[in-house]
Amino acid sequence: MKRYRDVTGDGGSNIAGQVEAQQGQLRKRLASIASVVAIVSGKGGVGKSALTANLACCLALEGWKVGVLDADLNGPTQAKILGVRGRRLVLTDGGVDPPATALGVKVMSMDLLLAGDAAPLTWDSPTQEEAHTWRGAMEANAVREFLADTNWGELDALLLDLPPGTDRLATVASLAPLHGIILVTIPSEVSQLVVRRSVTAATATTVPVLGLVENMTGLFPGPDASKLAADAGIPFLGTVPFDPALSVAADRGEAFVVALPGRESVQALKRIAGEVRAALSPRRA
Ligand SMILES: Nc1ncnc2c1ncn2[C@@H]1O[C@H](COP(=O)(O)OP(=O)(O)O)[C@@H](O)[C@H]1O
Ligand SMILES: [Mg+2]
Repeated sequence: MKRYRDVTGDGGSNIAGQVEAQQGQLRKRLASIASVVAIVSGKGGVGKSALTANLACCLALEGWKVGVLDADLNGPTQAKILGVRGRRLVLTDGGVDPPATALGVKVMSMDLLLAGDAAPLTWDSPTQEEAHTWRGAMEANAVREFLADTNWGELDALLLDLPPGTDRLATVASLAPLHGIILVTIPSEVSQLVVRRSVTAATATTVPVLGLVENMTGLFPGPDASKLAADAGIPFLGTVPFDPALSVAADRGEAFVVALPGRESVQALKRIAGEVRAALSPRRA
């Protein structure tokens, strides 16, 4: 098998041409999407994915056309949370038709491409150091393809659910123009320690930081995230209480904000979605 070391030049595959064609496709695709918003946190397990899915449902309930791109390639969860796991992807001329939830939220995730519970994405590389670089490059390529090759159609907002890691934001920002960043933390010093770095990374970009969300409020007696937001000079979007029912709904693939509209956590999610809507509204056609 030929390895990349053996190839001189581009090996005759016209990589530059291919990349240019894909960039054109990506531009065309993004032209019909009013806002692209990344949901980020340096920390894992803080509820990025749950928040992304619930915000998408809240926006859809308000009549917005919404898409969710699960950019967590190794731990994709959006198909499960949004209840489209196992749905077939339909290939058409223009690209892949993403499955849509009952609320009309369009979902694309690596989970929809993996047959059953297949092995996670792995990278073949001779050394760890190279594995790191390859990982970054391959992740970026896969996300670019998801963006460019999915028939998103006209969207008011496309939410990107990013994997944990402070570096992920820069990768995604290099692929597509972002119109907003939402940061997520939980009330613990451990989380805030890491998320503070994500806040710094977010404010270092030219992308508007829509704000910080404290999720799972009440679960731990940790520090108040509104102070972290104030110190960083970014908006505080609010708190979402820890609510076992939210987790149950996510596991069932049910739209939580529809199933239990009276719940305090649902009210909180709707308030936060309202803030996001207000910030993005000027971009809607
Ligand atoms: N406010 C909440 N109350 C209760 N459970 C929550 C809440 N937010 C998230 N969860 C649950 O916590 C777990 C981790 O959330 P997840 O969204 O997967 O985190 P991340 O994407 O940041 O790794 C999931 O099982 C999710 O359903
Ligand atoms: Mg996640």
